[in-house]
This record gives sequence, structure tokens and C-alpha cells, in this order.
Amino acid sequence: MANTYNIALIGGDGTGPEVAREARKAVEAAGARFNFKTHFVAYDFGGERYLKTGEVLPDSAVDELRRHDAILLGAIGHPDVKPGILEKGILLRLRFELDQYINLRPVKLYPGVACPLADKGPEDIDFVVVRENTEDMYCGMGGFSHRGTADEVAVQTAMYTRMGVERALRYAFEYTQRRRQPRPWKGLSAADKQAGKVGQLTLVGKTNVLTYVYDLWERAFHEIGEAAYPDVKRDYNHVDACCMWFVKNPEWYDVIVTGNMFGDIITDLGAMIQGGMGIAAGGNINPEGVSMFEPIGGSAPKYTGRNVINPLAAVCAGAMMLDTLGEREAAAAVEKAVMDVTAHCIKSLSAGRMGRSTTEVGDLVAERV
Ligand code: IPM
Ligand code: MN
Repeated sequence: MANTYNIALIGGDGTGPEVAREARKAVEAAGARFNFKTHFVAYDFGGERYLKTGEVLPDSAVDELRRHDAILLGAIGHPDVKPGILEKGILLRLRFELDQYINLRPVKLYPGVACPLADKGPEDIDFVVVRENTEDMYCGMGGFSHRGTADEVAVQTAMYTRMGVERALRYAFEYTQRRRQPRPWKGLSAADKQAGKVGQLTLVGKTNVLTYVYDLWERAFHEIGEAAYPDVKRDYNHVDACCMWFVKNPEWYDVIVTGNMFGDIITDLGAMIQGGMGIAAGGNINPEGVSMFEPIGGSAPKYTGRNVINPLAAVCAGAMMLDTLGEREAAAAVEKAVMDVTAHCIKSLSAGRMGRSTTEVGDLVAERV
């Protein structure tokens, strides 16, 4: 019997609902071709609902979402709502309460996409960032003293647990192995291949300054890698140097693992070298629970309702969702369709400059799936 997936669809704010609709179209087309069923339930969480009701996310919502197989999210962020309220109240709350401890962000330049780096092409830009997603400065540990006075003090702490670091590392090592089957990473040296390595995992940190938290990361990285994943080559970069290499030699990366805050920052840079927010997707993953997939870009209020926003990032998020649900072939087919569209059907990834409307781009992908 065909599998059926129950998917919560949170369109969210601005252009979120428009791109989420096209992602749904691609997922449904994949279901028709690869023989699985999807059942979408739409939720109206976002700025409009908050402005009307004063409620960001009802308490019952988290439990309801937990009962789905996955969540597909459009975008969160409303120009009339103070920054932080919706981000904390919806996005971060769901990441934390559903324990989505991995934020998986592929950085891949698709054919036909304009890259801001001179002399770099699709064969040079193809890596994945595994960002820890529940710890670091995102935990909200800290506070003020003497707030609003000249003696004011503010503290915000980067908190890491051995458990949190270990589970992120294990996921990253396993992801590196899986990604490189059946073919090893071409960036490996002959000696690495001889030694049986299949791929490379780079830890990105700041061990020269953050001598507590990234010391913990570094020790765990080598201990776990040595003991359990000897076929994965281990490498280390400071985060500032990593930003430099993203621009200068992105082909040096296979998989990166890093903390929540650094991961947030470097993946925006990553999105730019893969052609921009029009294509960058991510997954908030709980490997043992319910995961949530989203385009990395925002709600783009000025393009709302004009049918000009690029839905491909959301479509790619849909493909990641299928992959995580175990529909590998379907995910690959959606990705291939996106590549065909970037290579042959649109002029640019930017809103209004694609030469096609949002719905047309969604149709082009669905037809190709
Ligand atoms: C992201 C976003 C969020 C983050 C914000 C909106 C809280 O920038 O998903 O990268 O910092 O994680
Ligand atoms: Mn971010």
C-alpha cells in the first residue's frame, strides 16, 4: 500500500503562502509519480493572526504539529510586528519544543544560476552545512543589570552541552558518509583515498578565543570521529577563515559542522554564493521526531501577492522534506526538475526578474517531476 504523509503547511507571512503553495505542488507531483500520498493541513500562524488575536502560537499548536510527519513552512516576519516576537514565538519555539537539533543547509550552485564568485561553477560549490539548532546563544541565557542606566550590563551566554554537541556531530558524520555513497568525495587526496576515506567533515569554530565551548566541540569531534567514523576525514577551520574560504575556495568543502550562531551567519554567506535567497533551503531536523523545512529567505513583504517571488527555495525545502521522509528518489526528481528550470527556463533567481511568474515556475517544476 502507498505511504501517506501528513504534512502541516504553515504559509506564514508575506510571500510565504505563495512559495509554500508551489512547494506543495512539487511534492504532490512527486507523490503522483513515485506512488505515495500526501495530506496537507494548513495552519495560519504568522503576523496577521498575531495582530488579530494577540496570540503567536497557541499552546495546543505544538502538540498538534507533533502529530504530523513533517512541517513545511513558507516564511515568518511581518513589517507591523516588532522584530523578535514572531521569530522567537514561532520559529525558535518550534525548533526547541520539537527538539529539531539539526539545521541542515545545503550550499549548491545549480546550473544556469549566476554566481557572484569569479571563475566558480556548479562543480566548485556543492557542500552542506550541519548547524546545531538548539543550543548556543539561542538558549536565551543571560540578562541585564541596571538596565537603562549608565551602569547597564548585558550578558548573553553561549551554552553547549556534551549531549547536544555529540548528537549534532554524530548526525554530521553519518550525513557525510551517506552523502558520499557510492562515490567518495573528489576533493580527497590519493593518500586519503588509499586510507579508506570517503568524505570530509570540517568543524567550524573559534578555538583560539572561545576556548571553552569550542574546546568541547573539538574534543568531542575527534573522539567521536576516531572511534566511530574513521572513514570520514576530519578538518578544522576557524569561523572567520571559513568565511574567507567560502569566497576564495568553496570547492574545499564537503560537509561542515558548526554551532548555532556561527551556522546562522555562515549559511547566509553560503546562500549568496549559491545564487541568493531565491534558491537556499534548509531543514530543521529531529532525526527521531518531526522535522520542519523552510526556504532560508524572509517574507519579502514588498512582493506579497504579486506572483513574482521565486518559489524555488521553498520547492527545494520540499525536496529536502521528501528526502528526510525516506522518499529519496522523489526528492532527487524534484531537485533534478529544479536544476532543469534554473538551467533552461528562468532568466534570474530574483523576484520580478525571472521572466516567469511564481505559479509558472511552480508549474514548470511540477511538470518536470
Ligand atoms: C535563520 C534565521 C533565524 C535564526 C532567525 C529568524 C531567528 O535567521 O533561520 O537562519 O537566527 O536562526
Ligand atoms: Mn539566519
